[in-house]
Amino acid sequence: MSAEKTENLNWIDKRFPLTETWRAHLSEYYAPKNLNFWSFFGSLAILTLVIQIVTGIWLAMSYKPDAGLAFASVEYIMRDVDWGWVIRYMHSTGASAFFIVIYMHMFRGLLWGSYRKPRELLWIIGVVIYLVMMATAFFGYLLPWGQMSYWGAQVIVNLFAAVPGIGEDLSVWVRGDYVISDATLNRFFAFHFLLPFLLVGLVFLHIVALHHVGSNNPDGIEIKQGPKGNKWSDKAPADGIPFHPYYTVKDLMGVVVFLALFSIVMFFMPTFGGLFLEAPNFQPANPMQTPAHIAPVWYFTPFYAMLRAVPPMWDSQFPGVVVMFAAILILFVLPWLDRSPVKSMRYKGPIFKWATAIFAVSFVVLAWLGMQPVSDLYTLLAQIFTTLYFAYFLLMPIYSALDKTKPVPERVTS
Ligand code: HEM
Repeated sequence: MSAEKTENLNWIDKRFPLTETWRAHLSEYYAPKNLNFWSFFGSLAILTLVIQIVTGIWLAMSYKPDAGLAFASVEYIMRDVDWGWVIRYMHSTGASAFFIVIYMHMFRGLLWGSYRKPRELLWIIGVVIYLVMMATAFFGYLLPWGQMSYWGAQVIVNLFAAVPGIGEDLSVWVRGDYVISDATLNRFFAFHFLLPFLLVGLVFLHIVALHHVGSNNPDGIEIKQGPKGNKWSDKAPADGIPFHPYYTVKDLMGVVVFLALFSIVMFFMPTFGGLFLEAPNFQPANPMQTPAHIAPVWYFTPFYAMLRAVPPMWDSQFPGVVVMFAAILILFVLPWLDRSPVKSMRYKGPIFKWATAIFAVSFVVLAWLGMQPVSDLYTLLAQIFTTLYFAYFLLMPIYSALDKTKPVPERVTS
């Protein structure tokens, strides 16, 4: 580095810990040397969050949060704003891409046991992030003011009315009116603009927690507790390599592949067969005409299927609402449900492996069922797969303790 650059850097370092932070979190932050495909999704989650915030701000420059103007303003963005259709499709594709990346990221946590000690808080911050992401997506879904936006919001906000005693007042409070209206649209826009910045803060905490405990790996071995000394430092974990340049370059490769896939969808199939942008949402909201079949976007449908699987009690959908929220809140206690002596699926026994496979299949089947019109057969299937979903968590303290595990090696394997 040139003398002048060094001088400038020294001037900065005396006033801001730039080199120190770079070293502590990148060039001398040692991550396990055997991180694989599953560790792409953290950095891809950061990328999608940035895509959503940047395209969102640009959309907000032309979007009108007014019930009379909202639908037309999205049409205006699509047809008249320079490159408006690209920004809009980046945002709509980005929303689904964000959830695909996050579900892969969370599933990796289940496979590697990255919710176990010492990462319980890292996982819990993750679950809070997931809840805020869902709220952000829900508020955003109303903004185009299309038929599915309007009726989807009507159905979900009506669930608040099922809360015993306070339900009616609560749902009016959330809407700002007796039905979904201009008041609802305005406040949903305000929340949809605000929550992504809360997400940025939560992601910062998430990564601070990660760098404090260190990254897990496919073997579930704590490299910090293993032998010391590698070619970069005598004090560093022997099974660790510097995050920069090794994993920054690797994550960049993941970013390139992701952006290629993202562009193919965005330019050639932005509706993705109606999964990312539903056909009814290309019609303006009509409070007088209920669509034949109302369903939320695919990343909510597993929980929507659970809601519909629970029959109303005393004419109230409250039990279904409880099951739907419990399906997400149970993630907070996961670190304490798993009693297995090992972390990673690699060394767990057949019971845990089958339980995880059945859980994953149940989640995907529930996602599909949540998109289908109601029928007796689908309701029965949804009841079966909802039970299997909860059985994965509620029976885990038993089968994880009974499960016959394999010995975990001393050092990480490839
Ligand atoms: C905006 C959303 C999110 C972002 C930007 C994000 C970012 C990251 C990054 C960069 C890493 C390190 C790289 C990696 O291992 O993948 C990471 C690790 C982790 N994340 Fe997230 N994350 C997000 C959401 C979540 C959610 C929703 C959960 C779980 C509910 C979660 C749980 C974890 C766990 C347990 C680890 C540690 C992984 C390990 O060391 O094995 N994250 N996250």
